[in-house]
Amino acid sequence: MAVKRTPFIAGNWKMNLDHLQSIAFVQKLAWSLSDARHDFADAEVAVFPPFTDLRSVQTLISADSLPISYGAQDVSAHDSGAYTGEISGAFLAALDCRYVIIGHSERRTLHGESDDEVNAKVLAAHRHGLIPVLCVGETAEDLEAHGPSAVPVAQLRAALEGVDGSKGLVVAYEPVWAIGSGQAATPAQAEQVAAALRGVLAEVFSEETAQATRVLYGGSVKAANIASFLREPNVDGALVGGASLDIDEFSSIARFKKHVGA
Ligand code: 13P
Repeated sequence: MAVKRTPFIAGNWKMNLDHLQSIAFVQKLAWSLSDARHDFADAEVAVFPPFTDLRSVQTLISADSLPISYGAQDVSAHDSGAYTGEISGAFLAALDCRYVIIGHSERRTLHGESDDEVNAKVLAAHRHGLIPVLCVGETAEDLEAHGPSAVPVAQLRAALEGVDGSKGLVVAYEPVWAIGSGQAATPAQAEQVAAALRGVLAEVFSEETAQATRVLYGGSVKAANIASFLREPNVDGALVGGASLDIDEFSSIARFKKHVGA
């Protein structure tokens, strides 16, 4: 049952680049990919800028019909009301966002997001037609205590409570110890957890949905190591942090097939 999953190369800008910088960046990224004749059938390319950039990114991408996807880095679990500082999925949908990152480890640790909250955000994203890029991953202590898959598998199960599998999902395995550390997981480690996560998708939804869902790896991905991850059968792309802020590097990551002959 071989299903073709288009690789997904996603840049999580985190709290970097203001709206003016975002316009220059996305324009140059599009030029870089076009100059290199990037085939978007080889990899979908997406950027995840801060909220305040989204309107500018939308305007540029739509005016120039750029083949780049975009989304937000978080969404409120609520649709509207007295939630100071939060952003509704309705607002993101109104800006034509296709995706939204949910449950990033920085939100889980720095903002105390629980599995229940992550689950509520996944449901909220779906209410507004957004595709969650759902992040799961274990800390170094979790890895030591429970091995590589236990925590990400439990986080995924919790996040999918009551979720309709037909509404679209991307899963990102991001070991916390690999984020921003320069110490990426090995391709074999990423594959082991990605396969376990796909197993959960098959159990919770169906084998068909599991085969159609893209599972990404994230954590110190760069042009020099991307191809080794994409060679693994269950790794369908990458969620890139630091390296996504360098246009040449990110463009090179998106072209992983060409530059290493993978
Ligand atoms: P780095 O690529 O900087 O390790 O960040 C990964 C990440 O957190 C992407 O969401």
